[in-house]
Amino acid sequence: MADNLKDLLKRSTSSQMLAAVIGFPVNHSLSPTIHNAGFKHLDLQWDYIPLEVEERDLEEVFEQMRSSNLKGLSVTMPYKAKAAMMVDECTPTAKVLGAVNCVTSTDQGLIGHNTDGDGFLKALKHDAGFDLKQKRVVVLGAGGAAKAITEALGRSEVSSLAVINRTQAKAESTADLAGDVGSVGELEDISEADLVVNATSLGMKDNSTDFPCPIDLIHSDQLVVDLIYHPLKTPWLSAAEQKGVRTHNGVSMLLFQATEAFTLWTGEQAPVSIMLRAIEEELERRSHK
Ligand SMILES: NC(=O)c1ccc[n+]([C@@H]2O[C@H](COP(=O)([O-])OP(=O)(O)OC[C@H]3O[C@@H](n4cnc5c(N)ncnc54)[C@H](OP(=O)(O)O)[C@@H]3O)[C@@H](O)[C@H]2O)c1
Repeated sequence: MADNLKDLLKRSTSSQMLAAVIGFPVNHSLSPTIHNAGFKHLDLQWDYIPLEVEERDLEEVFEQMRSSNLKGLSVTMPYKAKAAMMVDECTPTAKVLGAVNCVTSTDQGLIGHNTDGDGFLKALKHDAGFDLKQKRVVVLGAGGAAKAITEALGRSEVSSLAVINRTQAKAESTADLAGDVGSVGELEDISEADLVVNATSLGMKDNSTDFPCPIDLIHSDQLVVDLIYHPLKTPWLSAAEQKGVRTHNGVSMLLFQATEAFTLWTGEQAPVSIMLRAIEEELERRSHK
């Protein structure tokens, strides 16, 4: 068993519930900060830790969930697809995505969820009060995050959803997740869109000036969202803002995918503003490192 999991289980008492994020690596994860702030605020007997798990120990973590007070699991890279195969049942969304980012332990066994897409929808509402009904959307990218938000947007009465990606085959399979409204997009779809979302990783590196799409296709009648939250403002988002475009970063999606998980595990309403403040303070601290 992974030493850190052994330590966690040893430290826990019968009245304390445990949650963890598993991945490789996980030392960058904000999840412990977010969830522990929520547990503390509500005075819940829960503790959340990062668990860096080698692939060979993955099965054991899931077995421990069945027999210990490890009751909540967040799953991050590179194990989201493997987790979908290790749980007893997936929600319809996790099943169609083939990816699990949250596991609950229930009387019916281990259930795999994917809270990224619904987290994104809640973030849009929270940040921008954006009504998706009959809106034209462009998603840039076709990786795990793009798939999750495309599936969620496909359930949201948008009029069209065009996916644009460097690798065409992935654009096609991602667009399929939106159902009838989904298609593979062209650059010209961008200026026609009401909402443009960057779900590529372009702009994540501090010195990256690569844009996920040409900035001259963006205009002030649009809402522009970048799923990246580190840095808080990517060069692309800054350039859009300079054109007078309404923009939002990925902090709220990070927040709401976590609040969804928090409620699934504890049954409690997540203290949204407390958890948001925890993220902002931690990101601020990291920006000075
Ligand atoms: N706010 C949140 O809660 C949240 C949650 C999840 C992810 N994210 C962010 O979303 C971004 C994507 O994450 P992910 O998990 O989906 O990653 P991923 O699965 O690795 O997908 C990466 C995407 O970026 C594209 N890409 C990468 N390098 C590129 C380049 N040089 N030129 C053009 N396209 C490029 C890839 O295109 P190809 O398919 O052609 O390789 C793919 O579409 C990350 O920045 C991550 O931080 C945020």
